[in-house]
Amino acid sequence: MSISSFKRFTITSALPYANGPLHIGHIAGAYLPADIFVRYLRMNGKDVLYIGGSDEHGAAITIQAKKEGTTPQAIIDKYHALNKETFRRFGISFDMYHRTSEPIHHELSQEFFLRLYEKGEFTELESEQYYDEEFGQFLADRYVTGTCPNCGYESAYGDQCEKCGTSLNPTDLINPKSTLSGKTPLLKRTKHWYLPLDKYQPWLEKWLLEGKKDKWKSNVYGQCSSWLKSGLQPRAMTRDLDWGVDVPLKEAAGKKLYVWLDAPIGYISSSKQWALDNGKDWEPYWKKQENPEDNSCLIHFIGKDNIVFHCITFPAILHAHGDYILPEHVPANEFLNLEGDKLSTSRNWAVWLNEYLDEFPGKEDELRYALASILPETKDSEFTWKDYQARNNSELLAIFGNFVNRVIVLTHKYFEGNVPATGKLEAIDRETLTELAGFPSRIGSAIEQFRFREALAEFMNLARLGNKYLADTEPWKLAKSDMERTGTVLNIGAQIAASLSIVSEPFLPFTAVRLRDMLRIPAKNWAEAGRADLLSAGHLFGQPELLFQKIEDSVVEAQLQKLQNSRKQNDLARQAVTPSKSPVSYEDFIKMDIRVGTILEAEKVAKTKKLMKLKIDTGMDRRTVVSGIAEFFQPQELVGKQVSILVNLAPRKIRGIESQGMILMAEEKDGTLRFIGPHQQTANGSIVS
Ligand code: 2FM
Ligand code: ZN
Repeated sequence: MSISSFKRFTITSALPYANGPLHIGHIAGAYLPADIFVRYLRMNGKDVLYIGGSDEHGAAITIQAKKEGTTPQAIIDKYHALNKETFRRFGISFDMYHRTSEPIHHELSQEFFLRLYEKGEFTELESEQYYDEEFGQFLADRYVTGTCPNCGYESAYGDQCEKCGTSLNPTDLINPKSTLSGKTPLLKRTKHWYLPLDKYQPWLEKWLLEGKKDKWKSNVYGQCSSWLKSGLQPRAMTRDLDWGVDVPLKEAAGKKLYVWLDAPIGYISSSKQWALDNGKDWEPYWKKQENPEDNSCLIHFIGKDNIVFHCITFPAILHAHGDYILPEHVPANEFLNLEGDKLSTSRNWAVWLNEYLDEFPGKEDELRYALASILPETKDSEFTWKDYQARNNSELLAIFGNFVNRVIVLTHKYFEGNVPATGKLEAIDRETLTELAGFPSRIGSAIEQFRFREALAEFMNLARLGNKYLADTEPWKLAKSDMERTGTVLNIGAQIAASLSIVSEPFLPFTAVRLRDMLRIPAKNWAEAGRADLLSAGHLFGQPELLFQKIEDSVVEAQLQKLQNSRKQNDLARQAVTPSKSPVSYEDFIKMDIRVGTILEAEKVAKTKKLMKLKIDTGMDRRTVVSGIAEFFQPQELVGKQVSILVNLAPRKIRGIESQGMILMAEEKDGTLRFIGPHQQTANGSIVS
């Protein structure tokens, strides 16, 4: 069934964990493409329910609470409010943005669990699971890290390897470590309820491998088929945790539902809340209808790390339940990189959306446009501030903004702002109008196929068509001799501008409103775009205003500097956590003979940057020591300084000079060296112990 044959759509964007702010990687993955799609559907008069919300369970939340020294509840309250507001400010047009900590969600998740339990779908298994003895608790998957057995990545999580995307169980990891204590966890027996994905394998092969071939994006289909080929394993749907939805069974007291069972059910509970708030019925959006042709079209927009859960686990759960529709499409995106590096929350290598909105007020669409141009639709892509600047200055401003501005300014100049009537059409007019008429369906068709970059490029091509038409016809010259012809050209220019105000809306919703205000036209349906009679002769335009402003180099440089600062902070933080060396015995320690000495002479070693030759009075003798301190001190400031010196270090030659010992220095996080000397004047030769 093609998209356009559905009359009702249930569109979801992955529920982000409420454990931190949103960055451009989130937006390019699951939110901007969905919002473009949803706005397009609405403009086509479709019945659409667009669902979002916060994922508030799982170790992602408890780990963040630990990090911020607060409770999971405080974390979700803080980030749910922040993210909900950030999405609103950025124009992501959810019909409902709910949260999985709400009672309505807990109840629905428990209902799902019980339905599957009562149907005998779960396998109950006692198994050995990782347990951190020091912390006295079983470890959630995310609390265990180790080497991925599939790709060798050393920091894979117990539920998934973020490098190769493989879904894992903690016991699959090589060299597992507890993230709580840093120690190797123990295995301890516990009972859990498993979803037998192996049992659903034949059904999944038919539904997905056969049914979605050549329909789903190749990156999504490819990942799913490789999982199915390697054979699915049962997956535990319960966990030993103290944060989450209670397992609704007496014998499971204290256990919680697996977050990847409850989170996608969040789409449904969010829909239920929307229905309650708006006096609507949620069921047609989710449940199978008597006539399958009346079923809603369910589409999940996600990032690639969520593919397995949306294409395999959740469909298996919906199938096992029996009453629900299955996803028609899962147009997952790959990852977005930033300035040559992976986006990373922990390394603060990100453009945070809330910060962008604060720093670039009124420039929501500029970022929407820059991101839509580089969406990682088929492979990873990269955001750079230079590209952002170029997209704004050379495309939005120079092509789209410039065209619209010329049409409105010239109409004011020659016709007092009234759209002129057309005279006799020439070949160029007819050709331009024919081209204009073809754009909306081309843009729409690309959107329907989740090819948003292509759709955006086509939208900009329409503005290019307008610019070319004005450049070829030169109405500013025609106005000197032929007002009728000038009127024809500006009428056609006005029709193109009106169409642009329609087809720009899914991508640039804020600009579309401003453009409509300038053109003084109401919101229109997609089907009206491309027409030659959107504006009738005599229609009065508002005053022209620039839709976009130039972005200066200094703005880009400031953003790059901000990223460099994060990099510096990271380097410092990395050094700060240099782990302690392995223990040494007391006997070994006392082998070192450390004394107080005084520097008598100091000179830089020629042709080196770092080395300083020192003559030191050790109380026992005067000896030469070559030390790597020349970048931090001038020879003259060293003379007379008291230092700690290891005097029984075997002599060794450095740059042809025999060094007879080593002075002790402390290295600060940024690499600066400081002396370890006595705080008071001390006799040379005094033993340091
Ligand atoms: O990866 C994530 O951020 C998850 N919180 C996505 C959940 S999507 C859905 F299942 F709720
Ligand atoms: Zn891996």
